[in-house]
Amino acid sequence: MAQVVHNSVLLVIVILLVRIGLSQQSSQTRTLLRIQQLLNFPAVLSNWNNNIDFCNLEPDSSVTVVCYEGNMTQLHIIGKKGAVLLPRNFSMNAFVNTLVKLPDLKVLTLVSLGLWGSIPGRIAHLSSLEILNMSSNFLYGGIPQEISLLSGLRTLILDGNMLAGQLPEWFRALPLLTVLSLKHNVLNGSLPNSLSELENLRVLSLSHNHFYGELPDLSTLTNLQVLELEDNGFGPQFPQLGNKLVTLKLSRNKFRSSIPAEVNSFYQLQYLDVSLNSLVGPLPPVLFSLQSLSFLNISRNKLTGMVFDNISCNDELKFVDLSSNLLTGSLPKCLLADNKNRVVLYARNCLVTEEQQQHPVSFCRNEALAVGIVAEGKKKDRSRKAVLALSIVGGVVGVIVLLGIGFFVVRRKNEKNSTKKPRTTLIIENPSAEYTSKLFSDARYISQTMKFAPLGISTYRVLSYEEIEEATNNFDSSAFMGEGSQGQIYRGQLKDGSFVAIRCLKMKRRYSTQNFTHHIDLISKLRHRHLVSALGHCFELYLDDSSVSRIFLVFEYVPNGTLKSWISERHSRRSLTWTQRIAAAVGIAKGLQFLHTVAGVYSNKIKITDVLLDQNLVAKISSYNLPLMAESMAEVSRGKSSGGSKDHSDNERINQEAQADIYDFGVILLEIIRGRAFKSKGEINVLREKIQEAISSDIVARKSIVDPGVQNECIDQSLKTMMEVCVRCLLKDPITRPSIEDVLWNLQFAAQVQDAWCGEYRSSEGSPVSPKLSIC
Ligand SMILES: *[C@@H]1O[C@H](CO)[C@@H](O)[C@H](O)[C@H]1NC(C)=O
Ligand SMILES: *[C@@H]1O[C@H](CO)[C@@H](O)[C@H](O)[C@H]1NC(C)=O
Ligand SMILES: *[C@@H]1O[C@H](CO)[C@@H](O)[C@H](O)[C@H]1NC(C)=O
Ligand SMILES: *[C@@H]1O[C@H](CO)[C@@H](O)[C@H](O)[C@H]1NC(C)=O
Ligand SMILES: *[C@@H]1O[C@H](CO)[C@@H](O)[C@H](O)[C@H]1NC(C)=O
Ligand SMILES: *[C@@H]1O[C@H](CO)[C@@H](O)[C@H](O)[C@H]1NC(C)=O
Repeated sequence: MAQVVHNSVLLVIVILLVRIGLSQQSSQTRTLLRIQQLLNFPAVLSNWNNNIDFCNLEPDSSVTVVCYEGNMTQLHIIGKKGAVLLPRNFSMNAFVNTLVKLPDLKVLTLVSLGLWGSIPGRIAHLSSLEILNMSSNFLYGGIPQEISLLSGLRTLILDGNMLAGQLPEWFRALPLLTVLSLKHNVLNGSLPNSLSELENLRVLSLSHNHFYGELPDLSTLTNLQVLELEDNGFGPQFPQLGNKLVTLKLSRNKFRSSIPAEVNSFYQLQYLDVSLNSLVGPLPPVLFSLQSLSFLNISRNKLTGMVFDNISCNDELKFVDLSSNLLTGSLPKCLLADNKNRVVLYARNCLVTEEQQQHPVSFCRNEALAVGIVAEGKKKDRSRKAVLALSIVGGVVGVIVLLGIGFFVVRRKNEKNSTKKPRTTLIIENPSAEYTSKLFSDARYISQTMKFAPLGISTYRVLSYEEIEEATNNFDSSAFMGEGSQGQIYRGQLKDGSFVAIRCLKMKRRYSTQNFTHHIDLISKLRHRHLVSALGHCFELYLDDSSVSRIFLVFEYVPNGTLKSWISERHSRRSLTWTQRIAAAVGIAKGLQFLHTVAGVYSNKIKITDVLLDQNLVAKISSYNLPLMAESMAEVSRGKSSGGSKDHSDNERINQEAQADIYDFGVILLEIIRGRAFKSKGEINVLREKIQEAISSDIVARKSIVDPGVQNECIDQSLKTMMEVCVRCLLKDPITRPSIEDVLWNLQFAAQVQDAWCGEYRSSEGSPVSPKLSIC
């Protein structure tokens, strides 16, 4: 009996469950049939009718329904490509009101169905939604804010619609968002910074819209693998990116910076297209050997620099398009090895090759110089004039700065004489006034400038663009001296007959001339017997917003070549004596001391090739850390915004940078002693060890290390002192390295010992014509 009761209860429950299931199913069926109607019975749904069990529908490429325990969780309807607008009586609101009757939908794909209208906020009632794909319809208006309520949303694809407005800030409310694709819409504005908070983002596709401006820092998107931004107005700065990228498409934008060195860490990058921008600066050779890269398109930019035929390439590289840039040198041999079926395009550069149309090298050099001139849709001639005019404006700003400096000098003097003059308004226009006054109130600085005065270098001034052009014979290739990390260098002659070296600094970011006033101010004061000093500058400006495109810095021309050529070219009679070598080392150390203690310029990364000798063989440091590079700009503005106070970490950084300079100086000392340059750190370490041993060993050991060219002239105590200071400069632990004052003292000691020996020698031998003597 109990059994029967039990059974009937069970039966009732089963019937009830089936009923609930059926009504559930029939409500879903009704909804789907309504959807079919609202979509105007598209061909892909032609087999839908009352009798279909939708949850068990055979999926095909255009229609798929997926249920979970009787509830519909996925609905995919993909119409015929090129579907036309649904009729006038279609209502997006009515359509979405029907859709939300399927509240368990996690995945919704409604592609190419002719949907038109703006997306109703009610769509957020599909609160389980994880994937929404409504590509290739005619949706217009903005992306409704209600989407931000779909906190489980992982994929949002609205490609190929007519969506307008800006990309909203509220995307940050979708922490799980992995794919955001809004290609082919008419979205505009710049991207919100909140985008960089979407840590899970793997695909960001915003191609073919009207976005513009700088991109937010995307390096925080550590999972980003696909970034597609083609055909917008992004720029000018190359985006900051994480290193997991696989696909990077930046074609057809307004990027005008250089390609950052970080690309060498993009170990997964397979596809790189930066074509049709105005990228400048040298092409990083590492691109050819990036381990995963198979597609590289840099065509139609203004990338410069020498390509070497010995560059190595990655085997995977299948498409390479370098065409229409300003590259010189030879194509990498590895690219041309034709056993690989690889497409390599490189026309319209200045490469040394008979193949594909190339320009003469001078074309690339001149164009490389002219790229600062951004003449949008204007004839070149006209833009030139405008640039000239603007560079004069730039000049005027500079003059104001200089007048400001002059004014301060005068003011200081007057204050001393306690005859205070009223302030003029001039100084108020000078944003660097405070800075100037600080430097000028530095007694050491003043004494340095005094010392400098008798050196006969003309005072700092602002040059016109015409003067620069004239000096370089319109940037003739014969005037081209080389290209360093800080831009091209040209030799020139000013009207007064003096020779100069002109450094062209291209700006990576857009700054107004005002941003540079205090840098220029500082540069104008970096004058020292042992520095290659700046004589003047000229700003060149962009036409569109008068921001600085290039700065020409005019330096004294130091005619006698590099220190390297004077220690290592033994057979050319151009070898410095031991005394001259110590003198050069003392000179460099004095230059460094000035940079550190007076100018506050660190991280100079000086190499032996950066030390030039003048007609009297006085050593002068070129390529010191000019306070104009992008990093230092960032540095300076950061310092400013944080109130400018030098806190503990600031001091620590300065210490580290000073100690790095000491190390670099130690390398130069090593090269001076050994008589040749070193390339690898390994070589340097080995020799340092050897010298370390030799110091505590005997004179024979020491002499065996020194350059044979000066072996017989250097006396042991002098050599030993030089070796000691050299080894200490190269100590691994930066804290144990000597200060620049300590270095200088030791070098001068080494010089004196050597000098005393020469003196003794002279007095004992008497005659100054002995060949030994000329060495001293
Ligand atoms: C729209 O109008 C057509 C006739 O022009 C009609 O067949 C269709 O059912 C209407 N659709 C809706 C959703 O009312
Ligand atoms: C199916 O839908 C019903 C009604 O919406 C709901 O109560 C039930 O929890 C759903 N089942 C599952 C497995 O989601
Ligand atoms: C979205 O729809 C487009 C067009 O059919 C398709 O190519 C794409 O793969 C879909 N994406 C997802 C995640 O379903
Ligand atoms: C963006 O586009 C909308 C309409 O499409 C327009 O009203 C708006 O001015 C544009 N905004 C910007 C910043 O260009
Ligand atoms: C590289 O980009 C340019 C411009 O976008 C395009 O015309 C060219 O076909 C591309 N090269 C390759 C190999 O795809
Ligand atoms: C390639 O050649 C250039 C000059 O021809 C040279 O400076 C460079 O060191 C070489 N690089 C390698 C990796 O051999």
